Amino acid sequence: KQYRIAVIPGDGIGKEVVPEGVRVLEQVAQKFQFEIKFDWFDFASCDYYEKHGNMMPEDWKDKIGKHDAIFFGAVGWPAKVPDHISLWQSLILFRRDFDQYANVRPVRLMPGVPSPLANRKPGDIDFWVVRENTEGEYSSIGGRMFKDTDREVVVQETVMSRQGVDRILKYAFELAMKTPKKHLTSATKSNGISITMPYWDERVEAMAKNYPEIKWDKYHIDILTALFVMHPDRFNVVVASNLFGDILSDLGPACTGTIGIAPAGNINPERLYPSVFEPVHGSAPDIAGQNIANPIGQIWSGAMMLEHLGEPDAAAAIVTAIENTLKEPKLRTRDLGGKANTEEAGKAITAAI
Ligand code: NAI
Ligand code: MG
Repeated sequence: KQYRIAVIPGDGIGKEVVPEGVRVLEQVAQKFQFEIKFDWFDFASCDYYEKHGNMMPEDWKDKIGKHDAIFFGAVGWPAKVPDHISLWQSLILFRRDFDQYANVRPVRLMPGVPSPLANRKPGDIDFWVVRENTEGEYSSIGGRMFKDTDREVVVQETVMSRQGVDRILKYAFELAMKTPKKHLTSATKSNGISITMPYWDERVEAMAKNYPEIKWDKYHIDILTALFVMHPDRFNVVVASNLFGDILSDLGPACTGTIGIAPAGNINPERLYPSVFEPVHGSAPDIAGQNIANPIGQIWSGAMMLEHLGEPDAAAAIVTAIENTLKEPKLRTRDLGGKANTEEAGKAITAAI
């Protein structure tokens, strides 16, 4: 089997952690006997913007639209390009044009990573957040009237389509089916938001009928955020609308310690377009160029990418290698209190595979 991956390091520590992610992917491909062809691209970066006045070339879709997936570092260098330009002209374009409607983040407490929550150890926190990534609260329908007068009114509508809601729910239920716990939680707020959220609940109930093995529950978003902190052990797959999912998908990884290890996928499950796999963190200008960034978020994103491509054993091997490496204090990077640099940490995980 051969896969073609578009590699986009982007800015800052993206350029340091992506090579470590690729190193690990090359090793695991060799071990599990498949081939990965990596095509590297310099666009979707602020350096590219400086040279060309644009984040991306006009024909970017021809360049990366046919790859099996996109392995992305991080984009953003506020000193050169304002964040709303660098992000909107790169990652957000990918999400929309490649219909990456599922934003997926595993939340897992790893060995050697102190949780900010008291008395939690590896195994206690291990779940997924699935966020709807294309509609819902993040619509551009609305307006502003009587601007700058005391009668001023602003309105922004939430849009939920049956197709849009059903496809994210289906993705989440399918994901739950692949887990041993077979449990799903839906985030709602149908007590306060009286039209769209009851509709969301109704569609969850309808979808659940297709998955009789799945135990499911729902919580209002306010108590759900509290439960993430107080009882993270209660969750397995958590599915949420765009806004609620945005909040939960930052809160979840925050409960498991460092931002340096959290991965994410922006996924088009039908594989009509390439999906993007990237660490949760950004380009970290404060530590860029020093070879001290933690490469694990990037490496774990590579595992998610292999899972998506249909190589679950290779994906699991990467996650196990990360866990085993983290158990060794001297192989941890500085954000985890260790002394290993980016390259040493990447090489240690490669060796563990
Ligand atoms: P950031 O995630 O880049 O950094 C936040 C803090 O976490 C910094 O102190 C940084 O040193 C630390 N950190 C991040 N990743 C780390 C790693 N792998 N190892 C050790 N420490 C790490 O977020 P910030 O500073 O808000 O944004 C910087 C730039 O990144 C901005 O231009 C922003 O727009 C962009 N950004 C891009 C994202 C993406 O490409 N998906 C996501 C978030 C931010
Ligand atoms: Mg966010």
